[in-house]
Amino acid sequence: MTTGQRSYDVLVIGSGAAGLGVALRLAGRARVGVLSKGAPDEGATAMAQGGVAAVLDPGDSIEAHVRDTLAAGAGLCHEAVVRHVVERGPGAIRWLLDLGVPFTVEATEDGQVRYHLTREGGHSHRRVIHAADATGRAIERTLLERARAAPDVELLPERVAVDLVTAARLGLPGRDRVLGAYVLDRRSGRVEAIGARAVVLATGGASKVYLYTSNPDCATGDGIAMAWRAGCRVANMEFMQFHPTCLYHPQAKSFLITEAVRGEGGRLLLPDGTPFMHRFDPRGELAPRDIVARAIDHEMKRLGIDYVLLDISHKPAEFVRRHFPNVYARCLEFGYDMTREPIPVVPAAHYTCGGVMTDLRARTDLEGLYAVGEVAHTGLHGANRMASNSLLECLVFAQACAEDLRARLDALPPPPALPEWDESRVTDSDEMVVVSHNWDELRRFMWDYVGIVRTTKRLQRAKRRVDLLLAEIEEYYGNFRVTADLLELRNLALVADLIIRSALARRESRGLHYTLDHPQPDESAPPRDTVLSPPPRPVRAAGAAGPAGRQ
Ligand code: FAD
Ligand code: SIN
Repeated sequence: MTTGQRSYDVLVIGSGAAGLGVALRLAGRARVGVLSKGAPDEGATAMAQGGVAAVLDPGDSIEAHVRDTLAAGAGLCHEAVVRHVVERGPGAIRWLLDLGVPFTVEATEDGQVRYHLTREGGHSHRRVIHAADATGRAIERTLLERARAAPDVELLPERVAVDLVTAARLGLPGRDRVLGAYVLDRRSGRVEAIGARAVVLATGGASKVYLYTSNPDCATGDGIAMAWRAGCRVANMEFMQFHPTCLYHPQAKSFLITEAVRGEGGRLLLPDGTPFMHRFDPRGELAPRDIVARAIDHEMKRLGIDYVLLDISHKPAEFVRRHFPNVYARCLEFGYDMTREPIPVVPAAHYTCGGVMTDLRARTDLEGLYAVGEVAHTGLHGANRMASNSLLECLVFAQACAEDLRARLDALPPPPALPEWDESRVTDSDEMVVVSHNWDELRRFMWDYVGIVRTTKRLQRAKRRVDLLLAEIEEYYGNFRVTADLLELRNLALVADLIIRSALARRESRGLHYTLDHPQPDESAPPRDTVLSPPPRPVRAAGAAGPAGRQ
């Protein structure tokens, strides 16, 4: 056991909208540590472009936002959750405004000033509040500024959570509960045990499991993998969302072109200039994302082309530059002037609709463990998330989680001293190439076999490969000192397995899951979530943390 071990009331793993939202709402009430894998602003939140969906216009209604979300979710949204979130949307935006987030305003014809609301796919109304086309940056900056000044909130950058520490893992009697986490300090290379009464997973999504993604490097599904290893159920992992429009350019790393470009009139065209979306859906360019991404994929395969075009050059140049200053500037860097010409776009992996199962208070299956944001499956998104509902979910569930914690923190016992991470039986790796090779292989077969269009045969092929990788990675993990790359690979491989198993289990096409073997939704029974439960874990003798503290 260590002496002087670091410990908090609440350990928040992740510093995006979800994690910082929880921390700020707990500030002054609890001692909170907030981990980030790299710099605190390196998650998906800071990259968000379009905005946050909420009913803010008098002509809009809660009913309409609920209806649109349910329609986009293709029968799998939990209606009570949708209503819960949508009703709290305006309050969440007020909170951000009070904190000082500089959302874009516009002057009305009668000389008033109001917040500009844009439109995105699936929304029947203008309801997306934004800060030009860099909404996430504005939100993340404001939340971080506030967190740095908040009492009892400590930001801990460059720390990678390895695994949760649970009572069962330590062989403690009684109901299982979370006690903290093992955390790799990237600067020293040491793994530290951090104790906590409660832990909040706010680790974001897992889109890095695919070769092409709009996501930041940290989106490796760590929270989902850690929760699974700690015994929590996950749901709907087959619903990985592909954003229809990322810039097609070898150096652009799938740079996102916000859906708001289509919301403000952008058209999708084939390379010869022919529009095509109307052939797939009467809503055209503003159909929900799954439909647009599939339509583009279909046209690319049908014609053997590498990209389609997105054109907003028919709008005045000043309008385009004012609404999309960052996208405009970025495209210009790559040689495309979107005020004058169409830009080449392709779909890329964007959002993890499934995740760790939670209730309306963000509680998971494990006592004291919460999950908030993209890591969680709350029931809001169903089979396909509607644009700009994700930041909304982060904010609403961060509040719910903090409220629940405030009410019960005193009843959660402080953690015992945790066993130190044991490295006595491992050595430094002499074959890091194994890690980089397996990273590449995994992301490529996921793209090729578990992408926008699936078949049972392709999924089975992917399953055989992931089984081999999992075995190889576990052996490697058991023998060598951990690095951030190895931890991420281990988590990605586990998440890939969960995605493939969920996809194999769904014998229909619905929302984001489309398989040529079952091209229609199964109407013979009510739609059901795909819920996976971890296998029972071996019972350990008291005090035994497993080989080298690893699980
Ligand atoms: P993130 O913001 O991704 O933060 C995750 C945090 O967890 C990071 O701090 C990371 O370092 C940390 N972390 C992860 N693993 C570990 C670990 N093992 N140890 C320690 N720390 C860890 N949604 C909208 O609603 N509107 C939009 O306009 C929009 N635009 C988007 C544009 C882009 C390019 C992308 C990629 C996404 C967009 N989304 C949008 C989706 C939305 O941004 C994300 O779903 C949301 O920001 C997720 O927030 P989060 O707090 O859950 O995770
Ligand atoms: C975008 O701006 O197109 C992304 C919005 C989202 O993912 O919700």
